[in-house]
Amino acid sequence: MTKPDPHAGVTIHEAADALKVSEASVRNWIRAGYLNFDRGVGVCRESLEHFRTHVAGTEKLIQRANKSMVDGHDHRALASEITRALASGANPTELSNDYENGMSNSHRNREGIYYTPEEICDAMLSDLPKPGKSDKFCDPCCGTGNFALAALRRGYAPENIFGFDTDPIAVEIAKNRIRRETGVDPNNIKCADFLELSSSPSGTLDKFDAFATNPPWGKKIPKSEKEKYAGLFGTNRGLDTSALFYFACARALKPGGYLSLLMPESFFKIAAFRNARLHLLDHSLVSLRDFGKPFKSLVTRAQSFCAVKLPAAAGEVLCHSGSRVFGRAQSSFPSNPSHIINFEADSEDAAVLSKLFKSHHITLRGNARWGLGIITGNNGKFSRSRSGAGLMPVYKGPDIHRGRADPPTTFIPKNLSLYQQVAPTEMYNSSSKILYRFISSNLIFYHDEGKSFFLNSVNMIVPSPDFPIPNSTIAKLFNTDLFNWAYSRMFNTHKILRADLERMPLPVDFLRNNPDFSENQLLDYYELRKYEDGTFRA
Ligand SMILES: C[S@@+](CC[C@H](N)C(=O)[O-])C[C@H]1O[C@@H](n2cnc3c(N)ncnc32)[C@H](O)[C@@H]1O
Repeated sequence: MTKPDPHAGVTIHEAADALKVSEASVRNWIRAGYLNFDRGVGVCRESLEHFRTHVAGTEKLIQRANKSMVDGHDHRALASEITRALASGANPTELSNDYENGMSNSHRNREGIYYTPEEICDAMLSDLPKPGKSDKFCDPCCGTGNFALAALRRGYAPENIFGFDTDPIAVEIAKNRIRRETGVDPNNIKCADFLELSSSPSGTLDKFDAFATNPPWGKKIPKSEKEKYAGLFGTNRGLDTSALFYFACARALKPGGYLSLLMPESFFKIAAFRNARLHLLDHSLVSLRDFGKPFKSLVTRAQSFCAVKLPAAAGEVLCHSGSRVFGRAQSSFPSNPSHIINFEADSEDAAVLSKLFKSHHITLRGNARWGLGIITGNNGKFSRSRSGAGLMPVYKGPDIHRGRADPPTTFIPKNLSLYQQVAPTEMYNSSSKILYRFISSNLIFYHDEGKSFFLNSVNMIVPSPDFPIPNSTIAKLFNTDLFNWAYSRMFNTHKILRADLERMPLPVDFLRNNPDFSENQLLDYYELRKYEDGTFRA
């Protein structure tokens, strides 16, 4: 077989086919100069090959092009297709799947639409007590009715199940499903904006005995609306819609009523949700559950809480984390930094963490400058594997190890103005700074005295000159097994975030007296022991 002539062309249609993108994307790339095109010849095969192997992947162009293809979402067409199918008596549960699958990822993201699998709804409903005859249940953003059906299975009477959603198609599907299941016309399932309803004058909205739902996470709503609700609920501005639903449900819950919400993991951990957690921890928690990553296109973990609208009780909260089920005193959460609800940690873990966080310490918060690595904007174009004229060495994440660094094997032009993002130069040039891997599940720190530059998989900390702990000692502390363990038990994240590092407690008295401490000395200081399985115990 003869090899195709690299200078011959292919049609735009063939190029789109070869790259698995739309013809419009190929035309854009021709216009942008990525692909060579000659009238009469077509898209130059050589430029196509070069683009495919060197450019498209590195710059994520194909991924982005396909995203925009998927995003060509025609909601009106989808809605009328589903409405027609509903009218013709199609199975509404199947239509619920068709409806969700018919939406583009960007539409689902924008609107926060992820319907909850049946087993999650049932697990969350099992935290609610068996209902009395007249107990009222509400899913304030019911979608296609998954929680409403779980409430039926839990024993709520159909006429006591209420649901609201702003999406009229989802509401119609939910009504059809309930009607099919019970034979009763579900008059309490309505197309309405629950945030709006909950903020209307008292008496407009019923009070409920129980709420269970998966509210929209990260739904894009106007800033003015967010501010309006934040003012109304007495909380911080710019809160995510998931937390706004928390406050709205709490308002419409009867005293002694139950509230079970499926939230993004960030609700339990991230500083932005601090006020919502504080509000929640004032109430009596029943359970905390981790469901892993149940939503197809989302990398976020889904976790639920169930709380009773009663003052916080002295008892234990039932925590479900992976295959472990254990009790944890509710009183062990409020003293965590930012009231983090770190329910992957059991009571014994919590006792160790409390030793660290309650002992006399200082933190890096407000005491250091933080800098990101260089984002070149085009590593393929700028980075070389050999040194040369006008180039400088840069560390990448894998070059950094606990307490040491491999010689850099990446070189980029010294001209910093070429790059998309660069921290202030004087920070890189500090004679003493701390580097750490940013994308890592462990704390990997290195004390740099070589004025080194680095790419964006590494970050830096430049503590204030008067900070009482030497930089080498700080790096050493973060590298200890104890601090690695404590960091993962408190924050349970696979990213090393500045906000979390800033909250780690640095035992200043001990470190000042023992700048070259050993891990055993540190354990003695805290009166802790390390076990073979890597855990620490008091
Ligand atoms: C994550 S989905 C969950 C749906 C359903 N609760 C479930 O778990 O299957 C969130 C739902 O909230 C609805 N929604 C968004 N904003 C709303 C609002 N202000 N009032 C009521 N529903 C809303 C969306 O239409 C979507 O159906």
